[in-house]
Amino acid sequence: MNLFEKQASEFIGRHIGANEEEAAQMLRTIGASSLDELIGKTIPASIRDKEGLSLPGPISEHQYLIELKQVAARNKVFKSYIGQGYYDTIVPSVILRSLFENPGWYTQYTPYQAEIAQGRLESLLNFQTMVADLTALPLANASLLDEGTAAAEAMTMFFNLKNKDHDHVTTPKFFVDSNIFSQTKDILLTRSLPLGIQLVEGDYRKAVIDGSYFGAIVQYPASDGAVEDHRQFIQQVHASNAYVVMATDLLALTLLTPPGELGADVAVGNSQRLGVPMGFGGPHAAFFAAKDDFKRSIPGRIIGVSIDAQGNRALRMALQTREQHIKREKATSNICTAQALLANMSAMYAVYHGGAGLTNIAKRTSLLARTLSHEMGELGYNNLNSSYFDTVKIKVSDAAAIRRLAEARGMNFRYYDEAYIGITLDETTTQQDVLNILGVFHEAAGSHLVTATFEVEDDTLDNIPSSLTRVSEFLTHPVFNTHHSESEMMRYMKSLENKDLSLNTSMISLGSCTMKLNAATELIPVSWPEFGGLHPFAPADQWQGYQQIISELENALSEITGFAATSLQPNSGAQGEYAGLLAIRAYHAAHKEAHRDVMLIPISAHGTNPASAVMAGMKVVVVKSDDEGHIDVADLKAKAEQYKENLAGLMVTYPSTHGVFEESIKDICKAIHDNGGLVYMDGANMNAQVGLTSPGFIGADVCHLNLHKTFAIPHGGGGPGMGPICVNEKLKPYLPSHVSRDNASQNGAGTKVHAVSAAPYGSASILLISYAYIRLLGAEGLTRSTKYAILNANYMKARLEKYYKILYSGSNGTCAHEFIVDLRPFKTSAGIEAEDVAKRLMDYGFHAPTLSFPVPGTIMIEPTESEDKGELDRFCDALIAIHEEIVQIEEGKADKVDNALKNAPHTQHVICADQWSHAYSRTQAAFPLTYLKDNKFWPSVGRVNNTHGDRNLICTCEPTSSYELA
Ligand SMILES: Cc1ncc(COP(=O)(O)O)c(C=O)c1O
Repeated sequence: MNLFEKQASEFIGRHIGANEEEAAQMLRTIGASSLDELIGKTIPASIRDKEGLSLPGPISEHQYLIELKQVAARNKVFKSYIGQGYYDTIVPSVILRSLFENPGWYTQYTPYQAEIAQGRLESLLNFQTMVADLTALPLANASLLDEGTAAAEAMTMFFNLKNKDHDHVTTPKFFVDSNIFSQTKDILLTRSLPLGIQLVEGDYRKAVIDGSYFGAIVQYPASDGAVEDHRQFIQQVHASNAYVVMATDLLALTLLTPPGELGADVAVGNSQRLGVPMGFGGPHAAFFAAKDDFKRSIPGRIIGVSIDAQGNRALRMALQTREQHIKREKATSNICTAQALLANMSAMYAVYHGGAGLTNIAKRTSLLARTLSHEMGELGYNNLNSSYFDTVKIKVSDAAAIRRLAEARGMNFRYYDEAYIGITLDETTTQQDVLNILGVFHEAAGSHLVTATFEVEDDTLDNIPSSLTRVSEFLTHPVFNTHHSESEMMRYMKSLENKDLSLNTSMISLGSCTMKLNAATELIPVSWPEFGGLHPFAPADQWQGYQQIISELENALSEITGFAATSLQPNSGAQGEYAGLLAIRAYHAAHKEAHRDVMLIPISAHGTNPASAVMAGMKVVVVKSDDEGHIDVADLKAKAEQYKENLAGLMVTYPSTHGVFEESIKDICKAIHDNGGLVYMDGANMNAQVGLTSPGFIGADVCHLNLHKTFAIPHGGGGPGMGPICVNEKLKPYLPSHVSRDNASQNGAGTKVHAVSAAPYGSASILLISYAYIRLLGAEGLTRSTKYAILNANYMKARLEKYYKILYSGSNGTCAHEFIVDLRPFKTSAGIEAEDVAKRLMDYGFHAPTLSFPVPGTIMIEPTESEDKGELDRFCDALIAIHEEIVQIEEGKADKVDNALKNAPHTQHVICADQWSHAYSRTQAAFPLTYLKDNKFWPSVGRVNNTHGDRNLICTCEPTSSYELA
């Protein structure tokens, strides 16, 4: 390799932690003579593809950014007046720098380990409070994926509440007001079909809601901008014992009577315009707020208040409502990854501006809309809505001519058809912008003299009727009224960041979650305006840069998975599962076998698999595992045979959730195909396959990829993520379509798959991260990463197996990219549970591995390729030291109750308290190993009491007094 080739591949050595010398030492510990020998022992020869992905070679970070700037220049960032759920916004620089672009925030994991996640839990509680206040509904979750899917979640929640028995549906109808966003309608259609929900579309003012309806949706302000009073309609729906969801706009709600006060049961929407770039469709945090009655059925994660072991206030994910997917086939939603990082951004935007600041932004926007409406009227274009917030809708004689003039001046309007145009203003709109808009219409009329009279007083907002003017207070909590100076704001975000353990502190070895490096170069372009400033429904000639990234990424992912085509639409792994299952469903329907609805799912599968299958209208049949943790092939074959008439397929994770490459996988795929089914591969463990084998090569028909695992998108404390699906030729016609694109698959009547996400390419702007990952590593680096992920896992396994029992290995005694450590024996020998080990690891400066999945009482370790030997050793040393602490208990040298594990984690307050009554020393508690002297992370609260929080469910900010330490 010459110097220039070396430069091109230098990122490989930066992404992969271990250098060659370390790798050699690690191989010696494992007992393998070379990396290739280890890989040969680990991946069964029958599924080993020839090496050499057909992808470009690596590129240096510097060169990549230069090239990407050229691609970015192919995007044209017009002033967007399209509206329809996506608005330009000003991201406060302090939030951009301290949160969005800060690894202390974006490399966080989902806050399962609450004691080292209090910062983001606090911020998510602020988000919930903000949403609850603005909607005037008492309960809000910590984000959903997008507005369209949030509306669908409300619909299915209502459906399930009213129709407990899906075989005997008594109230099948859901009313959809015509004046809601078209992308939301598209998703409601997708979600309704498999469940047998009947959508009835019409004008809510004329609707007759009887006992056959379980619910209804209206939009407020409506899709075309109208602000209307839905009180009477809501009463009518309630009179029939049905529920109402209002899709709404948080900024507008600072001025409008909120949904809760109008009587709505649920409010959903997108918090994007509160300080999150449009990003060509995402990522943004959708919100979901509900009346108290829904607290046990609300989808997504909810943050709640509890206390810790010392009685101090402590936050955690509220258990009883947490994560529907844990209920597997009984779940009513498959949401797992959501949009935590973006929820935090929006919450911080509200913290920074406060209630009064948000109201001023809303008034300014509305006042300019009013001026625009008035001046358009003077020109003879009457606003069709007399009540509106930010949107002017007009009738024109020649929309195409207006469009030409507007686009020539760098503006996008919304074009309903040849006759109607919508113009939606936002926080960024200035008086000059309004003049520019008016200039288009003046020019169309042949005049060039543009004038307007601008009102600047907010008491002239007569475009909002008094019956719908907000009078109730909101965002009164001190957190929204304190941090308004930049110094305060910067320190507030830093103080929260300090409470959270992220990848910039130490490795987060979460099995199944692949917490690898999220390289700065991969992330930098996400905040470039050429990518952040695009509306997802902008005309195609304005997003040529995105088009290039999208098609190159689709091709690369198809190559990596061994498939024919890729859809980048699903915006989480679980959404990918759902989209993949819909493809299977549509395939069977197109082959006149719509009755095929049985999905086989191994018992070890992630909860989202059965949850997605049920949402796709399938019946779940569980396949057993054998004692080795492998799929019980005999049971699988018997079930495939038993259900052959109705078999839709199999969902299988590979390598298995137990961290093993099952040798029988080809046989398994064949058994499914022989019985008429298709194979869905859950690609969550793709980090063990890239470049060495692939779902297509193995024999699957479709897979999803978690780009936020294998392809370097950060987890953001619980989202964003992306879950594209890759399919073979058979399923290519059944990829999701989108109402905003003319890409409806040519696949015959009744089998078209509608949208699964609100935007056509899901959370498009973060696709840049995975694109960069693939470009920077190139074919060679991608394959090497997989090998090192397997090397690192086997090295840790080799070090730890002298102390702990490791569950499940392949036939040569190796694991894949992760492995399971059995902690169950310590329950009897020392009274120590897996949770105690997880909490004790915090004292050693580490986040626990995946706890009790897929096997209760265990931890699953996945180091990834990005950790070097030093970090792997520190983690192993910590677990070995913990083992010694357990031995001390077993031998009676440490107390069974008062020991460092049971009392973990130890906070600074506990260690520095004047009183210390434990049988072990403070040093043993907080500095058990020497490396901690250099890098000590302090959990900010002691062990969190889950039961207390669940008994007293509080999901919004409480009075400040409760924050004081006991
Ligand atoms: C095996 C497996 N499948 C599916 C999922 C769901 O992915 P997401 O959280 O992106 O919805 C996960 C998430 O951790 C997983 O581990």
